[in-house]
Amino acid sequence: MHENPKRINIMEANTIYKGLEGVTVSETKVGFVDGEAGRLVYRGYNIEDLTEHSSYEEVAYLLINGHLPNAKEYQDFTQVLRKSSELSKEVVDLIWTHSESHPTSLLRTAVSLLGANDRRADHALDKDQKDMGMELVGKIPAIVSSIRRAKDGGKYVSPSPELSMAGNMLYQSTGKKPDKTSERIMDVCLMLHADHGSNASTFSSLVTISTLSDIYSALTSAIGTLKGPLHGGANEMALKLIMKIGKPENVEKVIGDMLQKKEKIMGFGHRVYKVYDPRAKILKGFAREVTQKNGKELLFQTAQKVEDTMIMKLGSKGIFPNVDFYSGMVYDSLGFHPDIFTAIFAASRASGWVARSLEYVSDNKLFRPRSSYIGERGPKEYIPIGKRN
Ligand code: SDX
Repeated sequence: MHENPKRINIMEANTIYKGLEGVTVSETKVGFVDGEAGRLVYRGYNIEDLTEHSSYEEVAYLLINGHLPNAKEYQDFTQVLRKSSELSKEVVDLIWTHSESHPTSLLRTAVSLLGANDRRADHALDKDQKDMGMELVGKIPAIVSSIRRAKDGGKYVSPSPELSMAGNMLYQSTGKKPDKTSERIMDVCLMLHADHGSNASTFSSLVTISTLSDIYSALTSAIGTLKGPLHGGANEMALKLIMKIGKPENVEKVIGDMLQKKEKIMGFGHRVYKVYDPRAKILKGFAREVTQKNGKELLFQTAQKVEDTMIMKLGSKGIFPNVDFYSGMVYDSLGFHPDIFTAIFAASRASGWVARSLEYVSDNKLFRPRSSYIGERGPKEYIPIGKRN
């Protein structure tokens, strides 16, 4: 376990930590990532135990409230989630009139619109922040599913009261009730992506909430941050790379050429994990199962070969598969198009963003780092435009 980092006065240590690499910016009880041991913990529970025994609804409650819910708490919480997952006509219209937009951009816009329409967000009080945050945890998966539905040319589907959040993500995407196996796989994917330390999108939500802005703004910042290919956008690109390589025999050459050109192989490497990402292990098991079931063994064999090649070449530098390498294959098997994979990531991470934003602002300190000025010191003389060459 890491010893408690000492608080330093930045004025003493005049060092630049680019990308805040290795810098601890807050204390948290929400979740813990052990990069050396390859361990992920939510409020003290190992991710393996949660994905084995729990559900996304329970995990979202755990992250936000700090304990697993009892029956009454679970009932009240899932009622809020279910009610929130019925989208307003305005949000439905936004999605259907902008179905050409990139799903993550459209999701970001929908969350922003919700915030613009919620008067509680104008002067967000603590209780309102939590209420709005829980509603977003219920709403965002429904928005993501509806975006996929709109892109497939279907009509809006209301959530079914007898389905879980995972089940409704599939149902509201396709209009068809999912089989139990698909619902289970979706539920585990949602649990696996819910929280992950001070990752870039979570950090951006903390920066936003630290100004005492509202939770809609914090999650809008987070979604925009997650969109980048170095973060949540990697799952879409990882699957596209595996599909482009096509078969195991092509792997050595394609990966070798890319590394030669210093290109990053999507789905590998991590700022914290220097061993195999524990989430990737679980997702790899599903990827193997679903590709066998739907006759796409070649896709999995190609991915396996990419993994073997990357570990052989870069494993000594601590570069292993991360959560994004196999997740795309699993979502593809559930019928999702690659361009919506990041939005699915956001559907789950909404609970981690809300949990950490509420935790941070309860013992708030405005984020305001410094930058080292390396420009001309001046003062330079002002020359009017007429005299400039
Ligand atoms: C997520 O932070 C989180 O927790 C994020 C996340 C979450 O749940 O929120 O886990 C989700 O974002 C997972 C990461 C998804 N992104 C990718 O898969 C994109 C590919 N990965 C790389 O871009 C990279 O590994 C990062 C961005 C993830 C981490 O980069 P770092 O810590 O800034 O390390 P770096 O880019 O400085 O790389 C160090 C070395 C470099 O080589 P040298 O210059 O020292 O010779 O490792 C090499 C890099 O070139 N390297 C890779 C590589 N990742 C690192 N080389 C090839 N392919 C890669 N994927």
